[in-house]
Amino acid sequence: MTTMPQSRVHELHQLINQYNHQYYVLDEPTVPDAEYDRLMNELIAIEAKHPELKSIDSPSQKVGGQALKSFSQVTHQLPMLSLDNVFDLADFNAFVKRNKDRLLTSKSLSFCAEPKLDGLAVSLRYEKGMFVQAATRGDGSVGENITQNIRTIKSIPLKLQGVLGKDYPEIVEVRGEVFMPKASFEQLNEQAKKRNEKVFANPRNAAAGSLRQLDSKVTAKRNLAFYAYGLGFVGESITDTEQSTDVLAQYFSNSHYQRLCQIKALGLPMCPEVRLLASEHDCEAFYQDILTKREQLSYEIDGTVLKVDDIALQKKLGFVARAPRWAIAFKFPAQEELTVVEGVEFQVGRTGAITPVARLKPVFVGGVTVSNATLHNQDEINRLGLKVSDTVIIRRAGDVIPQIVSVVLDKRAENATNIVFPATCPVCDSKVAKAEGEAVLRCTAGLFCGAQRKEAIKHFASRKAHDVDGLGDKLVEQLVDEKLISTPVDLFSLTEIQISTMERMGKKSAQNLVNGLIQAKETTLAKFIYGLGIREVGEATAANLAQHFLTLDSLKAADSETLQQVDDVGVIVAKNIVNFFKESHNLTIVEQLADIMSWPEIVAKEAGSLPLEEQTFVLTGTLSQMGRNEAKAALQLLGAKVSGSVSKKTHYLVAGEKAGSKLTKAQDLGVKVLTEEEMLTLLKQHGIDV
Ligand code: IVH
Repeated sequence: MTTMPQSRVHELHQLINQYNHQYYVLDEPTVPDAEYDRLMNELIAIEAKHPELKSIDSPSQKVGGQALKSFSQVTHQLPMLSLDNVFDLADFNAFVKRNKDRLLTSKSLSFCAEPKLDGLAVSLRYEKGMFVQAATRGDGSVGENITQNIRTIKSIPLKLQGVLGKDYPEIVEVRGEVFMPKASFEQLNEQAKKRNEKVFANPRNAAAGSLRQLDSKVTAKRNLAFYAYGLGFVGESITDTEQSTDVLAQYFSNSHYQRLCQIKALGLPMCPEVRLLASEHDCEAFYQDILTKREQLSYEIDGTVLKVDDIALQKKLGFVARAPRWAIAFKFPAQEELTVVEGVEFQVGRTGAITPVARLKPVFVGGVTVSNATLHNQDEINRLGLKVSDTVIIRRAGDVIPQIVSVVLDKRAENATNIVFPATCPVCDSKVAKAEGEAVLRCTAGLFCGAQRKEAIKHFASRKAHDVDGLGDKLVEQLVDEKLISTPVDLFSLTEIQISTMERMGKKSAQNLVNGLIQAKETTLAKFIYGLGIREVGEATAANLAQHFLTLDSLKAADSETLQQVDDVGVIVAKNIVNFFKESHNLTIVEQLADIMSWPEIVAKEAGSLPLEEQTFVLTGTLSQMGRNEAKAALQLLGAKVSGSVSKKTHYLVAGEKAGSKLTKAQDLGVKVLTEEEMLTLLKQHGIDV
């Protein structure tokens, strides 16, 4: 059934108005931007085809917000506009062509290229050089008076630099974006979580929520920032009401880029990534460059904005209802999308943890097609209030695993069903239990459970453990299913003939695996301990245990107290280790493995002989070349202490990408901050191969 354009237009008006209200007024969006953009583009397309359906109150004709009742209102002397969007090069080229056609020119156009900052638009008014008023965009004509709150933003000057009448006229309105840097956003949410308060969905919401506080003391506590991206009304005299082109020309350049530089010279911050591009052909490279830098930037952006640089041409091109013709937002692929949870399956992990995994209607988000998302545990499902068949917002940013952000309750289907956790293990049907204080449900069968057995063997063979050449996850599953192996010990008695009967395994690959297993027999004590897969004993802890106990026998014999003397080992990890070696089934496997495998003796390190002894490091953010655990283990090998939190006692903070509150804290405390590169150099200096 096809909907009549008229009723679809009506439907679109209602939806877009509702989403606008949630986004601009309540600061609580319920659908991702991508969905909003699609609806708006659909409306614009229908209106282009059926001009009779384009009404003056159409959402396509205005900007989203509406002034909040509680702030006083400000009528903008010049309207604050929005931007049209494109998502690919073809549409960007079409934008350029439209403009050239309109200008009757075939010459290249120069562009001022800017990141599209993800915050909220404000207009700052300076009279005789003094900051007198700030307003939000509101509906484009009338915004909210947020002067008091803007005064709390440190980077916004209360007085302009330069000389009145020479560098700037009596009235200058500067427009730009107020935003919250990523690190401040993370810090704010961390604090909110601790206090059991509502967390903000993203830095944009946090910025909007912080700016629209009726009590400016609250705003003052939030770390907000501002970048200018243009001029608003400019007047010769305080009483001017009509924008005069002459005044603009007298004080400001005829290049948009140069104007931004002039605004910067007046003391307002300008985004350091802004560039002047000689031609439209440079725009794509700028877009790609900013996309690559995106994760490293300390603030959130969702695309680029490309503006015809020549002000005279801007004037010729003019505006359509809600946006200038001379500028376009060339947006990045959406990091948030809508999809439907078609079902929930339960996976059993190495330690028996039963993890609910949402099976999604495949959706393209953050540059890849996503069809699964982990739901972590029951608490997470409760927090989301998720049911099967729900429409959800899924987010995939950078290389982070996809997350379900929230449920779109408005779209809940009548037949949505509750998610019920299994009463027994979905793989081996054994009892399941939740340990006290833990959110995770676990299968209690240990290595008797097929799933745990498979995962234990995969872990044993994995790269960071014994790195068995030729033994992939699929093969482990087949070997267990065919009952050829049930513990890592069995791997070592596999024959070439047995292996070659497996699917897709020829003689060559069977030989390869047998050789791989022979090589794997020679290992180190640290890898041996790690390969056992004791709960919460990662690589770094295993290395510390090996270094501390020197032999497997003394580790096996250690009690909880002794274990806790080891770096990194607290009560819980100690308990896990003791419990592991208490289990006779595990002991048998460990002994058999120790008979088959061998490792060099470890020589105890004398105190004072290690180069980084007495030095405390904290690692934060994403380390791109070396995992955080690896870096930790390497630093510990050199004698350093690696701690989880920054304090006055910290000597170095290693800050990777997207470093958050720890970086801010280290800077506050004057702790030396190292980049990942600097840490790698340090490791290399001390003979650690990286
Ligand atoms: S120029 C007349 N430049 O995007 C053109 N806007 O979608 C007005 N934005 O309301 C906007 N970065 O809040 C411009 N470099 C930039 C921007 C930018 C972010 C926001 C701004 C605007 C919205 C339109």
